[in-house]
Amino acid sequence: MGRIIAIANQKGGVGKTTTAINVAACIAEAEKKVLAIDLDPQGNMTSGLGVDKNEVENTVYELMLDECSIKDSIYETVVEGLQIIASNVNLAGAEIELLGIKEKEYVLKNAVDYVKDDYDFVIIDCPPSLNMLTVNAMTTADTILVPIQCEYYALEGLSQLMHTITLVQDRLNPDLAIEGLVFTMYDVRTNLSNQVVENVKENLDTKIYETKIPRNIRLAEAPSYGIPINMYDSKSAGAESYRKLAKEIVERKDI
Ligand SMILES: Nc1ncnc2c1ncn2[C@@H]1O[C@H](COP(=O)(O)OP(=O)(O)OP(=O)(O)O)[C@@H](O)[C@H]1O
Ligand SMILES: [Mg+2]
Repeated sequence: MGRIIAIANQKGGVGKTTTAINVAACIAEAEKKVLAIDLDPQGNMTSGLGVDKNEVENTVYELMLDECSIKDSIYETVVEGLQIIASNVNLAGAEIELLGIKEKEYVLKNAVDYVKDDYDFVIIDCPPSLNMLTVNAMTTADTILVPIQCEYYALEGLSQLMHTITLVQDRLNPDLAIEGLVFTMYDVRTNLSNQVVENVKENLDTKIYETKIPRNIRLAEAPSYGIPINMYDSKSAGAESYRKLAKEIVERKDI
């Protein structure tokens, strides 16, 4: 049975989507079957994997509002072995529309349950907030992967995120585990990056992935071509690091 990983941090711009796209693509490159789920109305994971978010008929929005079946919401991406449930701006309205729905915290989980055995990994990209969409990601997921941007305010908001995870574990999904933290936009040349790493290690008793994702311009360029880093520039530092991270994730035996 596959592992469902939600990539979450309510802080904006920390590298959630970049990590979601490229971890999913690198796991697929290693010949695993992967389903990506874009849970952000910005739809950046969708477009970053070569799917035109405004042309998709059945997105995660239609799925969550029970207007289509999960099979009808799954599309091929540019990556072999990687399929996606897409998102676009319509999802911004889902929060309110879900209010009247029974078991609104489990809408995504109940749908994904039908297909999860078809995949080795399911990777969910969360929006930058702790809203009902993120709660749905956390009830669906087995684990949460938290990207931490190597900048001065990195720790800000992390205690709130950890508190939310604890609440979900207590009330909604007792099996939820923390996959770990991954440092993004790491710059070996600056003291700041190293200080952030040390600071996080001192303050959080959580698994930290060995692989740190460097700041790499190729990672920022790839989405505008609608392809992941391993297809855009396979030898770049960004591609090498996401391949290493994907390998660490796949080889975890303790969760
Ligand atoms: N390692 C990196 N090197 C260089 N640029 C990066 C790197 N990681 C992410 N970026 C760039 O930083 C910006 C924010 O990244 P990304 O969209 O992945 O963050 P996010 O956490 O998903 O943002 P949001 O909270 O809006 O969903 C993007 O322009 C992205 O291309
Ligand atoms: Mg994002």
